[in-house]
Amino acid sequence: MENVKIGIPGLDELLIGGIPKGHIVSVLGSPGTGKSTLALQFTYEGLKSGDNCIYLSLEESEEDITKTAEMFGWHIQPYIDNGTLNLIRLSALNIKSTIDRVENDLPRLFKNSQRLTIDPITLYEMIYESEAERRESIFNFAKNIKETGITTLLVSEANNENQFESKYGNIDYISDGIILLRRIRQQNLRLVTMVIEVSKMRRVDHSKEIRPYNITRNGMVVHSAEVF
Ligand SMILES: Nc1ncnc2c1ncn2[C@@H]1O[C@H](COP(=O)(O)OP(=O)(O)OP(=O)(O)O)[C@@H](O)[C@H]1O
Ligand SMILES: [Mg+2]
Repeated sequence: MENVKIGIPGLDELLIGGIPKGHIVSVLGSPGTGKSTLALQFTYEGLKSGDNCIYLSLEESEEDITKTAEMFGWHIQPYIDNGTLNLIRLSALNIKSTIDRVENDLPRLFKNSQRLTIDPITLYEMIYESEAERRESIFNFAKNIKETGITTLLVSEANNENQFESKYGNIDYISDGIILLRRIRQQNLRLVTMVIEVSKMRRVDHSKEIRPYNITRNGMVVHSAEVF
C-alpha cells in the first residue's frame, strides 16, 4: 500500500507513514483548531515532492491563502505560476451554479493531480435544503473523487453539539479516515490544550492515542510521543 505523507511532524507517525493513496480523509474541528493549516501543510508537502495539488477553497481568497502560506514560510507562488498548484476559489454566493462544474469538469482535473483539498466541505453541504438531497449529493461527489484515485482532505466544521462528528454527519461515513482536532480546557490550570486523534483510517493500524499539538510559526507540530 502506497502512503501519502502529510508532512506534519508527529502526525505521519500516528498514521504509520501517512494516508493511504486514494483515501478521502476528513479533518474535523471547531473554528480555529488549525484545519486549514493542516490542509495547507499537506498541500505544500505534496508540492515539494512533485505532486500536482488542487486546493478548492470555499471561504478564503487565493490571495489570503497565499499570504497564510507565506507566513508559515511555505512559498507556494512559484507552484501556482508553473501550474502544479491549482488554487480554486468557489464563491459561496454562486455555489449552486458552480456545483455543475465541480461535478462535470473537475474530475478531469482531479485525474491529473495527486492531492486535493476542499476547505471547507461544510459550505458545499449547506446549500442543500433537504437532508436526503445533501446525503445523496455528497455521496455522489465522493464517488466521483474516489474514481479519480486522488488523495483527498475534506476540511469540515465539527458539529456544535458533538465535536466528534462533522456538522451534518454525512462525510464521517463516506470518508476513509477521520482526523479530529479538539480544544480541551483544563479549568484548574486555566490552560487550553489542542489535541489530535486519528479516529478512523481504513486499512491502517494507526495509533488510537490522543496527542497534543501546537501551531507554530512553521506550521502544525504533533507531539506524538507525549501522552495527553
Ligand atoms: N503564523 C502563526 N503562528 C502561530 N500560530 C498561528 C499562526 N497562524 C495561525 N496560527 C494559529 O492557528 C489558528 C488558526 O488556524 P487555521 O486557520 O488553520 O484554523 P481553522 O481550523 O482552519 O479555522 P476556521 O475554522 O476559522 O477556518 C489561529 O487561531 C492561531 O491560533
Ligand atoms: Mg480554515
